[in-house]
Amino acid sequence: MEVIANADELIPFRGCAFVPTMGALHDGHLSLIREAKKTGKPVVVSIFVNPEQFAPEEDLEKYPRNLEQDCEFAKSVGADIVFAPSVETMYPSAPENICLPKSATQPQLEDACRPTHFRGVCVAVARLFDIVQPVVTVFGLKDYQQYLVIKQLIAQEGKRWENLKIIGAEIIRDADGLAMSSRNAYLTTDQRSQALGLHKALHCTSEQSMLEILDDHGLEVEYAVIRDAQTLLSPIDNKPTRALVAARLGHIRLIDNAELPT
Ligand code: PAF
Repeated sequence: MEVIANADELIPFRGCAFVPTMGALHDGHLSLIREAKKTGKPVVVSIFVNPEQFAPEEDLEKYPRNLEQDCEFAKSVGADIVFAPSVETMYPSAPENICLPKSATQPQLEDACRPTHFRGVCVAVARLFDIVQPVVTVFGLKDYQQYLVIKQLIAQEGKRWENLKIIGAEIIRDADGLAMSSRNAYLTTDQRSQALGLHKALHCTSEQSMLEILDDHGLEVEYAVIRDAQTLLSPIDNKPTRALVAARLGHIRLIDNAELPT
C-alpha cells in the first residue's frame, strides 16, 4: 500500500473506489473500505482532518491524529492507496463557494445543530472528488444526513463527477448495539450504558416514546425524530421513513439512526 500526499500522484488511480475519512480509523471505517474493495476497483482512502467542517468550539486541535496506525488499519483490509494531503494541497486558494443541496439546509437536524458543518464537508468532499476522480465512493449510513447531502451534491453538480456512484454502507455496531464512532473512546463505563439509550430509542414508533427513552437514560437530547428517508422532512404516507437521534453526554455528542419498518 502506498501513502501519497500530492494530488498529481493520484492521476494513475482515477476510476478508483474512494473512501474519504478524517482518520482515527475504527471498525466502522474498515467496513467502508471492505465495501469499496467489493467493487473490484483499486481502493483509495483519504485521511484529512478538514478544518472547514469544525466550528470554533469544536476543537479541531484535539481531533485524534495517528497516520501510521491508520495506514496499518487501512492496509489490513486491502486499501491500495492512502491519500493524506496537507491543508495547502486541499485548499491552495480560498475554499469553493459551493451551492448546498436542500438536505444540508432544510431538515433542521445536523444542519441546525452544527450550522457551518455541511458547508465544510461539501467543500472538502468536492475538492477530494476533483483530485481523486473516483467512479465509486463509499459513505457510512451512520452519518445518514451527510450521506444524503453528498448523494444530492453529486447529482446536483451534474457533469462534474458524471459517472460517480455513491454507496451507503450499513452502520456497524458493537455487540451491545452502540454504533461505532471515534467518540465512543471518550465514554466512561457508566456513560456507555447511558449511550445505549440512542440505539434503544430507534426501535420506537413515535417521537414521544423516543424522547422518553433518551430521557430515561439521562441523555441531553438534540433531536429525536421520524422523517421521510429521502428528504429528511416530515414523513409522507407509504414512503420509507428513518428514525434519527442526536444527544449529548457531557461534552460527548452522539448520533444514530435506523430505517423503520414500512
Ligand atoms: O465523515 C467524515 O469523516 C467527513 O465528514 C468526511 C466525509 C471525510 C469529509 O471531511
